[in-house]
Amino acid sequence: MAARKKLAMIGAGNIGGELAAQAARLELGDVYLFDIPDKVGVAQGKALDLEQRGSILGYDVNIRGTSSWEDLAGSDVVIVTAGVPRRPGMSRDDLLSINLKIVRDIAENLKRVCPETFVIVVSNPLDAMVHEMKKVTGFPSPKVVGMAGILDSARFQLFLAREANVAMTDVRAMVLGGHGETMVPVLSYCTINGIPVRQLITQDRLQAIIERTREGGAEVVKLMGSSAFYAPAAAAIQMARSYLFDEKRLLPCAAYLDGEYGCHDLYMGVPVVIGANGVEKIVIIELDATEKQMLRNSAAAVRELIEAGQRL
Ligand SMILES: NC(=O)c1ccc[n+]([C@@H]2O[C@H](COP(=O)([O-])OP(=O)(O)OC[C@H]3O[C@@H](n4cnc5c(N)ncnc54)[C@H](O)[C@@H]3O)[C@@H](O)[C@H]2O)c1
Repeated sequence: MAARKKLAMIGAGNIGGELAAQAARLELGDVYLFDIPDKVGVAQGKALDLEQRGSILGYDVNIRGTSSWEDLAGSDVVIVTAGVPRRPGMSRDDLLSINLKIVRDIAENLKRVCPETFVIVVSNPLDAMVHEMKKVTGFPSPKVVGMAGILDSARFQLFLAREANVAMTDVRAMVLGGHGETMVPVLSYCTINGIPVRQLITQDRLQAIIERTREGGAEVVKLMGSSAFYAPAAAAIQMARSYLFDEKRLLPCAAYLDGEYGCHDLYMGVPVVIGANGVEKIVIIELDATEKQMLRNSAAAVRELIEAGQRL
């Protein structure tokens, strides 16, 4: 019988706790909730609370809080949410200097304790953080990926569904590019059960929805004073599942580009297939002239951010 899978959530904050909750409910495997020594009580408390919940909801996995790297040895999947989230008025890029140091330290430790793992980075600014994770760990690029596109696409799909007054599940749309103001909602592939969205929603309403999508994270931050966590956790869990069960989902994720979409040595949101080998394929799609230009602009913004990070 196959051994139970092991998942490590680095950062036991809002997203980390929700990740552990969703992973447990889906019985993806045993869960380690890791945080710094000062916060290990929070990690352990959340772990115990979630483990007790299993008795009510009917799942049975081990959930542990820890601040010891050794406990993470042999993890199949590591999801990194450590760092500080945005406060009202902050951009994701404002987090660069604080979170970069944290991600460097985590990468050094992952390299040591679980060199075979699949790493999903969530911490912001996302594209720079996942780039740093790959650089410091030296892990192969298919094993280091960033979560942003699924969340941005979910926001886009929700707003489109509400505008057209149709079921959310019938809307398929993708947001590519960097996880920031330059993100690229791809209208040319956006359909409502196969019908191109431009036939069902007017151009000016589409433009307003695109703008709301670009500000989707800030809208939540403004309301509750901190970042979203339910949907971000669900997005990262979707990626983890696709890896653990070899589902081969085609998902928009921040993947390492080495020539694809004209980018070199750069992480950016593109359609990928995630299976048992990690990012098994980067899917190249035709874009219209406007979308190509937007993607180039987005890549330039990501490059600038990464270079700013390298100077820190
Ligand atoms: N990629 C995305 O789409 C997306 C979406 C939402 C939020 N985020 C980002 O995710 C990150 C986490 O958000 P959150 O709301 O869970 O924040 P949070 O403040 O609730 O949790 C972060 C946790 O990280 C811990 N931490 C700090 N340094 C650490 C270290 N060296 N090792 C381990 N843990 C450490 C903190 O103690 C805290 O518990 C933020 O950077 C946020 O901007 C990304």
